Amino acid sequence: MSESFSPAINASTRYCAVLGHPIKHSASPAMQNAGLAALGLNWRYLAFDVAPQDLREAIAGARRMGFVGLNLTVPHKLLAVEMVDVRDDSAKTWGAVNTIRFERSGDGSLRAHGYNTDAEAITRSLREDLGVVLPGAKVLLLGAGGAGRVAALKLAAEGVGELYLVNRTEAKVTAVAEEIRTRSPGVKVSTGYPKAGVDLVVNATSLGLQAADALPFAAERFDLAQARAVYDMVYRPAETALLHAAKAAGCRTANGLGMLSYQGARALEIWTGQDAPVEIMRRALQSHIYGL
Ligand code: ATR
Repeated sequence: MSESFSPAINASTRYCAVLGHPIKHSASPAMQNAGLAALGLNWRYLAFDVAPQDLREAIAGARRMGFVGLNLTVPHKLLAVEMVDVRDDSAKTWGAVNTIRFERSGDGSLRAHGYNTDAEAITRSLREDLGVVLPGAKVLLLGAGGAGRVAALKLAAEGVGELYLVNRTEAKVTAVAEEIRTRSPGVKVSTGYPKAGVDLVVNATSLGLQAADALPFAAERFDLAQARAVYDMVYRPAETALLHAAKAAGCRTANGLGMLSYQGARALEIWTGQDAPVEIMRRALQSHIYGL
């Protein structure tokens, strides 16, 4: 299928890994090992189930064993901010770490450098997979958990014109809206549904993961025909009820697979210093998740 080649594991093999809890459904090993093979590196990418109370020791163990770096997924991204030695600007800006690279410092010690590759991946996917022009856009964002907060702040930083924030727990959107007013005062941010049409709706809630889930918005408060494009961060299933309804309403649609590939591609670049084979990584995800 491809010309990728993985050298056999031997004493020189180097390792990266994702730490999460739970971890068994992670698609990252499939994606990253495809990327590493395409680059011809004698590296492997593993996955470990690590409980939050063990995270600090797990990071220290990986460093001690010469791992190149780590990815962190739910529920570790916020905890890890305090566990790295050096925070990249991306980690400082978004207040979460999803990628660590162990780097040797001047005194010979290995330090854990923390990065965030999630925020950039959101806007890259909106641009490249959905063709959305963000500056000046009117956006309805659903969800204000970890992913929703970063998406809101990143969209504001990209200069969207109007941002409408909706979340089941009202206090969270109020807090995110306040944060945006301080950080991106040029953006017109409000909580609740827009009264007129929008360029983009983004689902950053976890609704859609289960077949029985309700739609992530109140259909009596907002009509999808008022949206030009709909992005669902959920990628499993490939077409959620939201995306199905959005297509029926004539919207352009994309799911979160692009976001997953771009955050992984950027992590691979941080570890290797080489351009990531992003299309190969995306195809590996499609094959792993959808059996395509
Ligand atoms: P993530 O890191 O993926 O963002 P999270 O921080 O747990 O995960 O956030 C989950 C998001 O989905 C939140 O916006 C959550 O709403 P609350 O802030 O009110 O908890 C939303 N969500 C999860 N289950 C939901 C449900 N049954 N109905 C509505 N929203 C839900």
